[in-house]
Amino acid sequence: MRDEGTTRRGVLASALMGVGLVTAYGTLGVQGLLFLLPKRLQPRTRLLFAGRIDDYPVGGVRTVHDLEGTPVLIRRTEEGFTAFDATCPHLGCKVHWEPDEDRFFCPCHKGMFHADGVGYAGPPGDAGQRLSELNMKIDDVAGVVYLEVKAVSGRLA
Ligand code: FES
Repeated sequence: MRDEGTTRRGVLASALMGVGLVTAYGTLGVQGLLFLLPKRLQPRTRLLFAGRIDDYPVGGVRTVHDLEGTPVLIRRTEEGFTAFDATCPHLGCKVHWEPDEDRFFCPCHKGMFHADGVGYAGPPGDAGQRLSELNMKIDDVAGVVYLEVKAVSGRLA
């Protein structure tokens, strides 16, 4: 009769258990270190996968959400990509893209923004405001789009 610990299945089960334990304790250790680090030393931004380049038709706008759930409007043109925070600079409502009008529109006070994010009508136009932009990283080799977003810490404020 074979001992359970010496069978191939037993060795495989032990190895998988070891990998699971190392992964779990490693993750716990990293999170613990991040918790102990002063906030000013923690990374403030991180790159968020925002899809494949092919997911973005030229001339279109696609909505993704940052780590806090805020919508970000990513526009692709022949020149490249631009990411706009969908938060209206007037009073914080969410703007959306209107493809037929080729503009961003804020429904709260009829704020209108050109495709480059510059306000031209409604309160944002009157105040000379524009939509905030977020940094992006385009990996042409991998064909992937990344958005630089605020890091969200698991730490209580
Ligand atoms: S909140 Fe957008 S126009 Fe007022």
